[in-house]
Amino acid sequence: MNQASALMNTITTPNEYKQAYQQSVEDPEKFWAGVASDFLWRKNWDQVLQWDFAKPEVKWFDGAKLNITENCLDRHLLERGDQTAIIWEPNDPQEDHITITYNELHQRVCQFSNALKDMGVVKGDRICIYMPMIPELAVAVLACARVGAIHSVVFAGFSSSSLADRINDASCKMVITADGSYRGEKIVELKKITDDALQSCASIEKVIVVKRTGKEVNMQENRDVWWHDAIDDMADTCEPEVMDAEDMLFILYTSGSTGKPKGMVHSSAGYMVYTNYTFRNAFQYQDGEVYWCTADVGWITGHSYILYGPLSAGAVTVMFEGVPSYPDMGRFWQVVEKHKVNIFYTAPTAIRALEKADLSFVEKYDLSSLRVLGTVGEPINEEAWHWYDKNIGKGGCPIVDTYWQTETGGFMISPIAGITETKPAFATLPMPGVQPALMDKDGNEIGGNAVEGRLTIKFPWPSMARTIYGDHERFKQTYFSAFEGKYFTGDGAKRDEDGYYRITGRVDDVIIVSGHNLGTAEIESAIDEHDKVCETAVVGFPHDVKGNAVYAFVICYQAPSDEDTLRKEILETVSDIIGPIAKPDKIQFVGGLPKTRSGKIMRRILRKIASSDTSNLGDTSTLLDPSVVDEIMAGAIN
Ligand code: WTA
Repeated sequence: MNQASALMNTITTPNEYKQAYQQSVEDPEKFWAGVASDFLWRKNWDQVLQWDFAKPEVKWFDGAKLNITENCLDRHLLERGDQTAIIWEPNDPQEDHITITYNELHQRVCQFSNALKDMGVVKGDRICIYMPMIPELAVAVLACARVGAIHSVVFAGFSSSSLADRINDASCKMVITADGSYRGEKIVELKKITDDALQSCASIEKVIVVKRTGKEVNMQENRDVWWHDAIDDMADTCEPEVMDAEDMLFILYTSGSTGKPKGMVHSSAGYMVYTNYTFRNAFQYQDGEVYWCTADVGWITGHSYILYGPLSAGAVTVMFEGVPSYPDMGRFWQVVEKHKVNIFYTAPTAIRALEKADLSFVEKYDLSSLRVLGTVGEPINEEAWHWYDKNIGKGGCPIVDTYWQTETGGFMISPIAGITETKPAFATLPMPGVQPALMDKDGNEIGGNAVEGRLTIKFPWPSMARTIYGDHERFKQTYFSAFEGKYFTGDGAKRDEDGYYRITGRVDDVIIVSGHNLGTAEIESAIDEHDKVCETAVVGFPHDVKGNAVYAFVICYQAPSDEDTLRKEILETVSDIIGPIAKPDKIQFVGGLPKTRSGKIMRRILRKIASSDTSNLGDTSTLLDPSVVDEIMAGAIN
């Protein structure tokens, strides 16, 4: 690597950030070629970037050949084979933690890759992974990538019907799961949920099951295989499949404003280069440091910043099986002390929940190892930011508020730890390569500072999603049609007098509850499945721990005689159809919904009622029946 590319690859001063940013805008191809020169390629690219947002089509490093796992594993073996790659911390603090070195991880991934091949998996097959946060999850993800299979990880909190929908959408050939998972005091019976799902999944040929809880499960002959049997006798080396730069690496589902969840497709080379670059720079990761991201691998944060980013950077990454509240509200801090975590990355919702607990849960532990803190998933409120800064960072750890999305693959707007001056609740400045533009409602770009608008990105970056699996037209409509020639994030943002960005939240019908994206349409159709329910409208309202919570206005065929029982049934219905994360906090039974004469629900009004902000409901003159509003207001649940 020459000196120029070394400079481009690692930012160490505010000036270097400026230089890197400037070059990434002036000559993006040169900039990213410089960053990419640091990786292991089987063949170099022919062209750094081809793009057309009208189609939309984006190709990075086209012509290059690689396997991402060679970059996450093989290339580290000489230099750091015996260094820890993963520290696995179990749900129960009494159970021993596990450390896995790069050598061991390489062996385990190869062994499981051979098992996959032995079971007939070939390049391009889709494999669904529905697993607890155990080491085998990391192994499964990487083994898919090694053999060229496309992983589709489904968060293990989703219901059987959500799992079935995702399996069917991508016609997965195999599911990798476990007998069960531990979540605090609860056991979730993953295999049973999988069995239920598979009743409606014709494409599945094989199921691999990790033994985690040891509880008895049904194993279907000729279909289900125990993980330990599958790897038995398998060699621990495995030649990686050589992939094209733009070959699909994975599918990951995310909720949209309308319709069913979208299978976002990420490709190999650009995703690898960008997650590695942003991981190292935003956190200023130093060799040997212990890095802990508390997300689940079932979400994009876990894909990019527990596995691919850190492992490609040769980092020590912590995988935590449990929850922040078990056995008590001090668990995060106990783990930080135990593993001497240097970089800690979590969600505002977790910070707010822990902020509510007694400070003694924090003070009990030695947090002096911490150097950098991070947050992700939703806007962080100033109070939570200050609490995090003062009580966890002790005033001395930069907070990187990383703004990004499943669709963006990696950080879009984020401070560079210790280099970008932070401001509470601001994601601050774009990462090199990211060109944000704020737009007004008429589609004009808003120039200057101290302005607010809809956040778009006007130039491609390497880790952007390439399509929605099986529905390129929806990809185009959702992200590239609102503002011509620009990627629309769905978020609103302010740019202050210093050019710093503050994300104000979703401007569409996606609600972020405890950091999880939920589509209102998805929840509405789940509630409508209850046979007593005729129609539903769902909106978000502010919640002091979850950020937002779900408020459902429900019309029944007949006024319910026992509202509480019906509420419980509706919650169960939502849990069964989507998963517990989508359960509404409030359900109000109403006689009608505020609709325009053309039949459109005026959610703006419902949002105000749900937020107890009814002093000015705005123009209601276009409503078909304005009296509905008074009735809803009278019965509103505060
Ligand atoms: C929101 C998570 C404010 C935003 C990585 C985005 C944020 C959605 C932040 C994507 C942040 C994420 N500040 N808002 N730092 N990070 N968001 O796909 O609304 O689960 O569009 O990806 O979360 O959520 P997703």
